[in-house]
Amino acid sequence: MNFLKKGTVVWLLLTALGKISIAQVVIPVITSHNAMLLQADKGGDLKTIYFGKKLADQAEYKKITEVYKTSADYTGVLNSAYTSSGSRNLAEPAISVTHADGNKSLDLKYISHKIENIGNDVSLVSILLKDPAYPVEVTLYYKLYYKEDVIEQWSVIRHHEKGNIVLDKYASANLYLKAGSYWLRQYHGDWAKEMQPEETELTHGIKTLDSKLGTRANLFEPSMFMVSLNKPATEDEGSVLYGSLEWSGNFKIDLEVDPQDNLRIIAGINNYASPYALKPGEDFTTPAFLYTFSDKGKGDVSRKLHTWARNYKIPDGKGSRYTLLNNWESTYFDFDESKLSGLLKDTKKLGVDLFLLDDGWFGNKYPRNGDNAGLGDWQENKKKLPNGLVSLVKEAQKEGVKFGIWVEPEMVNPKSDLYLKHPDWVIKQPKRPEYYFRNQLVLDLANPAVQNFVYGIIDSLFIKNPGLAYIKWDCNAVIYNAHSNYLGKNQSQFYVDYVKGLYKVLDRIRIKYPTVPMMLCSGGGGRVDYGALKYFTEYWPSDNTDPLERIFMQWEYSYFYPAIASANHVTDWGKQPLKFRVDAAMMGRLGFDIVINKLSASDLLFCQNAVKTYNLVKPIIWQGDQYRLADPGKNNVASIMYVDSAKASAVVFNYLVNYRYGVESKPILFKGLDPKKHYRVTEVGLYPGTKSALAGQLIYSGDFLMTIGFDPSVNSNRTSVVLELNELAGG
Ligand code: GLA
Repeated sequence: MNFLKKGTVVWLLLTALGKISIAQVVIPVITSHNAMLLQADKGGDLKTIYFGKKLADQAEYKKITEVYKTSADYTGVLNSAYTSSGSRNLAEPAISVTHADGNKSLDLKYISHKIENIGNDVSLVSILLKDPAYPVEVTLYYKLYYKEDVIEQWSVIRHHEKGNIVLDKYASANLYLKAGSYWLRQYHGDWAKEMQPEETELTHGIKTLDSKLGTRANLFEPSMFMVSLNKPATEDEGSVLYGSLEWSGNFKIDLEVDPQDNLRIIAGINNYASPYALKPGEDFTTPAFLYTFSDKGKGDVSRKLHTWARNYKIPDGKGSRYTLLNNWESTYFDFDESKLSGLLKDTKKLGVDLFLLDDGWFGNKYPRNGDNAGLGDWQENKKKLPNGLVSLVKEAQKEGVKFGIWVEPEMVNPKSDLYLKHPDWVIKQPKRPEYYFRNQLVLDLANPAVQNFVYGIIDSLFIKNPGLAYIKWDCNAVIYNAHSNYLGKNQSQFYVDYVKGLYKVLDRIRIKYPTVPMMLCSGGGGRVDYGALKYFTEYWPSDNTDPLERIFMQWEYSYFYPAIASANHVTDWGKQPLKFRVDAAMMGRLGFDIVINKLSASDLLFCQNAVKTYNLVKPIIWQGDQYRLADPGKNNVASIMYVDSAKASAVVFNYLVNYRYGVESKPILFKGLDPKKHYRVTEVGLYPGTKSALAGQLIYSGDFLMTIGFDPSVNSNRTSVVLELNELAGG
């Protein structure tokens, strides 16, 4: 393989030159534009000697240590590629253990490494480290996606001591970067306020991003972040690292500017309340820390991450998605068979693919008529659905639409049969009062019986309703009173085993139902991470569907996740016109959650036309390259563009985000087009009875559109404008 050869060349160059001061063993971790060089020195310490843009002349790597000087006192410690604790290292460790004899020291030395080609474009570097004093070993894995410049890094820890050892800390990755300054972009949030960005310069010491929520772990803070080197990167300029842990539970990311002014990043499962006992001979595999780097700004790095996610992570990432009508905000819990029959007809009338039945369809002794009862009792409510889901699914088929359903299978209301029958399945402290989040408690997925139960909910829905075409999987509570009846004295395994249990269930579901679309919902975006997105075709960014808010949120999510995975619904949130709401929802997988039969004739016609327009442009939005043209946080008009891979067609969304007097758009510089091609610009998605303000034959070269720009004429009368660009025949 091309890329493997390139990697090997570096290694050979460095070792063959023999006398090079840095070379004992140099391990190249190389992708198409980037290089991370690891070196094992004479004493066996494995350290990072370079991380960043690949050099044009690989022979020059040997000069790195002439320039990057690390004092002998710190080498192999501050720049360790996987810092162990209890011996020479006094910095924040990646791993710390308590041996079977109670000793707390660990000193990992390089033993060997391998570079394997494991697929077209993908290779795996593995490095074995061992402690000379105790039979503990760690293998570091780096899965390299060459073209996309993406790395997934994890570690496997094992030992052969006489008894268990305890893993006090067990990070996935330990990076080391060198720059004049480091600019962290991080996110915080809460329900309906997801993905609020903050960008600050990191100062000396440790900045920690973490979660201790157990489930819905990203509610207050997700694990994704970016770090710009030397100055905050822009869309097209600057060096920037994106990172995120592929784990749907507690995480901890430490960003430490060390005494030598370098940046150490240590990322992994949060060890909070989680020292993990490991038996002799057993493997502990950490989740992957995902990272990617570009010296060409945030736009380049996120387009590569989108491509990676569609190619390798999100199920059916290169495929299609169903447009849908959801009934959550149009009915809440108040529906019956005849209301739902009407909604199936509305689904058809609107022209979308699927009807999604939300919360409230289950529970009999404790009917789910509000959020305080019924969770756990996954039988159809006989009053609301006397003929069961089966008849609804059949009716949907007759109408020619698909049928999807909401579940929240990890949860239980104390008012439920399940709670009465299986109190031992519920996470709670035996000696303390129960404490609820949205009137509910979390089931103990560390327990295999609970895993079977949760799997069985989904499996039996599909068995009983073979026509079922879509699942919305919700998760509305965090874990209070973390205690597993099943784990007995091993409570410190709980947080880790919960997530592993969840992934076991999802693995089983995906083995049996590999293609069914599933939405990852967590009362909004409380669980958006690539650990979960291995199983889900799309995620719910937020319950906040106010389109103005969504423009900001979707902008931030778009740094990390491709539009095909973003479930965007048109609702009655916000004060914007219907067209604005629909246009904002188009930047992803379009859905509706409004009362269709109350729409005026022209609103209905507008929505029907919008669905048709969307069906034409959705392949560009889902599979094209995204360019963030104008940031809603810095401009009066926000613009986002999607360009297909042939640079033949594009869609540009423009939204007024500042409603002060006299605000209107200016020319916006497009990106990603072919400068030599000529494009026709057309406004699409007009409201019935209105005309585009963009008159005449709008034909321009890509060069013109990217140099002079185009004014979409957004103003208080035209608050959102969607443009389609099509290459003129003949170029
Ligand atoms: C959560 C979801 C909503 C809806 C409700 C149902 O809040 O985010 O979309 O499904 O649960 O109770």
